[in-house]
Amino acid sequence: TAARPVAAAVQAARKGEAPADLASCSTLAEIEAALSAFDACPLKKTATNLCYADGNPSARVMLVGEAPGRDEDIQGKPFVGRSGQLLDRMLAAIGLDRKAEDRDSAVFITNTIFWRPPGNRTPTEDETAMCLPFLLRTIEIQKPDVIVCLGATPAHRLTGRSDGILKLRGKWTEATVSGRKIPLLPTLHPAYLLRQPAQKRLAWRDLLAIKSALSS
Ligand code: URA
Repeated sequence: TAARPVAAAVQAARKGEAPADLASCSTLAEIEAALSAFDACPLKKTATNLCYADGNPSARVMLVGEAPGRDEDIQGKPFVGRSGQLLDRMLAAIGLDRKAEDRDSAVFITNTIFWRPPGNRTPTEDETAMCLPFLLRTIEIQKPDVIVCLGATPAHRLTGRSDGILKLRGKWTEATVSGRKIPLLPTLHPAYLLRQPAQKRLAWRDLLAIKSALSS
C-alpha cells in the first residue's frame, strides 16, 4: 500500500537510519539528487518543486528554516518570498549575504523539510522525521561553524528540545552531528516578525550574537 513506504521511512529515520543512497552521498548535489529520488514523503506529491537549499556551500553560517512556502515551491529555492526578503535585510544588517562569495560573509540556507506542506500548514512529526536524515547529511557535508535555526521547528529537530521559540531564542546551544558539536542559535522566524514587528528587537539581539560568534 501507499502508506507502507511512508511508515517505513519514518521508522527508519527514528532509528537514525538514513535512506540507503544517502550514506554514499558526498556532495550537496548528490543529496539533492537523493531527495529528488526519495518518494516516501507524501508532501512530494502535492508540491510543485523540490526546495533544497540556496546560498554558498562554503559559508560558515547555515540557516535552517521550517518549510518552503508558496513562492519557494514555485522557485524551488528557500526563503525567496516575503519572509526571505526580510531575512535578506536582517542578514545584510550584520554583513551577511546569501550571494557572497567569501565564506565569512556568505550564508547557506536550507529548511527542515524540502517540499511545501499543502496550504503552508505546519509540517507533521512524521514529515520532519523523514526529512531529518537529509538535513543531518547536509550539515555533515556543508560543515557550518554556526547553525542558526529560524523558528521552533528546526530548533526542536536539531536539539531535541521542545520549549517554545520565545524561550529557546537567543540562547546558544549545540547540535551534535555525527559526533561533531556545532554551536546553534535559535532565533525568531522572519514570518513571525512580519506578523509581530515589535519582536524585531529580540531578533536584532540574536543577529548581534551571531555576528559576535563569527568574529571570535
Ligand atoms: N519559511 C521557511 O521556513 N522556509 C522557507 O523557505 C520560506 C519560508
